[in-house]
Amino acid sequence: METKISTEDVSAPGDPILETGTESPRLEGELPLREKHITSNEEPFECELGRSRYFQSSETQGTAVPIIEIIDVKKSYTLGNMEVPVLHDINLEVREGEFLAIMGPSGSGKSTLMNLIGFLDRPTEGRIIIKGLDINKLSDKEVARLRGLEIGFVFQTFNLIPRLTALENVELPTYANSRSGVDSRERAKELLKLVGLEDRMRHKPGELSGGQSQRVAIARALINDPAILLADEPTGNLDSKTGCEILNIFKRLNEDGRTIVIITHDPEIAGYADRIVMVKDGIIQNSTE
Ligand SMILES: Nc1ncnc2c1ncn2[C@@H]1O[C@H](COP(=O)(O)OP(=O)(O)OP(=O)(O)O)[C@@H](O)[C@H]1O
Ligand SMILES: [Mg+2]
Repeated sequence: METKISTEDVSAPGDPILETGTESPRLEGELPLREKHITSNEEPFECELGRSRYFQSSETQGTAVPIIEIIDVKKSYTLGNMEVPVLHDINLEVREGEFLAIMGPSGSGKSTLMNLIGFLDRPTEGRIIIKGLDINKLSDKEVARLRGLEIGFVFQTFNLIPRLTALENVELPTYANSRSGVDSRERAKELLKLVGLEDRMRHKPGELSGGQSQRVAIARALINDPAILLADEPTGNLDSKTGCEILNIFKRLNEDGRTIVIITHDPEIAGYADRIVMVKDGIIQNSTE
C-alpha cells in the first residue's frame, strides 16, 4: 500500500507551495542521459563533459535574454534589535540557458543570495526579476506559483521526506503546484528513469545511497518542468566520483536548455560552468566567463 501524502509533507522546507498552473510542460525528447559506465572504483574518475553547448555558437552568444535579474539588492537579518547586513548592492544577470557557478568563502552570503533568487526569502532592498516578473509586484500567492512551477531546488542535504518512497518524494511538489494535463505519477517515474533510478522507485531515502538520494532530489526539482534549477552545494555531501556523476546530470539538463545556478566550493565543478561569480563579504567580487 502506498503512503498517504499529507499537507504537512507538502509544506516541507524547500518544497514549493500552493496553486495549480495551466501551462503544459515540455515532456517530449527530454534529456537523453548517457550514463558513464565505471568499471572499477580504483580507476581514476574524470568528468568527461565539456562546457555547455549553449553559448558556444557565436550566433547565440550574448543574445540570450536574462531569465534572472538582480538589481541593487541588499539583504539584512535582524538579530534582537541589531540589523546584520549580509548582502550589499548585489547586481547580477543570468541569461536563459546559462550555467552559472557561485563561489566564495563560508558565510559570504551565497545561500542567502540563492534563497533570494529562488523566492524563499525577500530582499531588504532592491529588485529581483524572474522571467520578466518583478517579485516586488507579485502577491505571495503569485510568488508561490512562480516558485513552484519555474524554479527547482536541489540542496546539499537532499531534503527528502524519510517516510515517503523515492517516487512519492519526486511527485510531492505537484500536490501544491502542477501543470495541467500532466500525469504526475507517470512523469515522476520518467524522471527517476532519467536519473538512472528506475529500480529504486519504491525505496525510501534511508534505503538509498547519498548519490541516489541526490538523484531523487534532482528528479523532484524537475517534476514541474522548471526553467531554472538552483543547487546549493549539491555535491557537498558526496565523494568526488559520485559528485561528478551528479554534475554530469546537471550538465545534460543545461544542454537541454535549462538555466542552472550552482553554489560550489569545488573549483573543478565550477570549471564546468559558463561563468563563475565570486561572492565575498556579501559583495560580488568578480565574474569570469
Ligand atoms: N536567518 C538568518 N538570521 C541571521 N543571520 C543569518 C541567517 N541566515 C544567514 N545568516 C548570516 O548570513 C551570513 C551569510 O550566510 P550564508 O548562509 O548565506 O553563507 P554561505 O556563503 O552560504 O556560507 P556556506 O558556504 O558556509 O554555506 C552568515 O554570516 C550567516 O550567519
Ligand atoms: Mg551556504
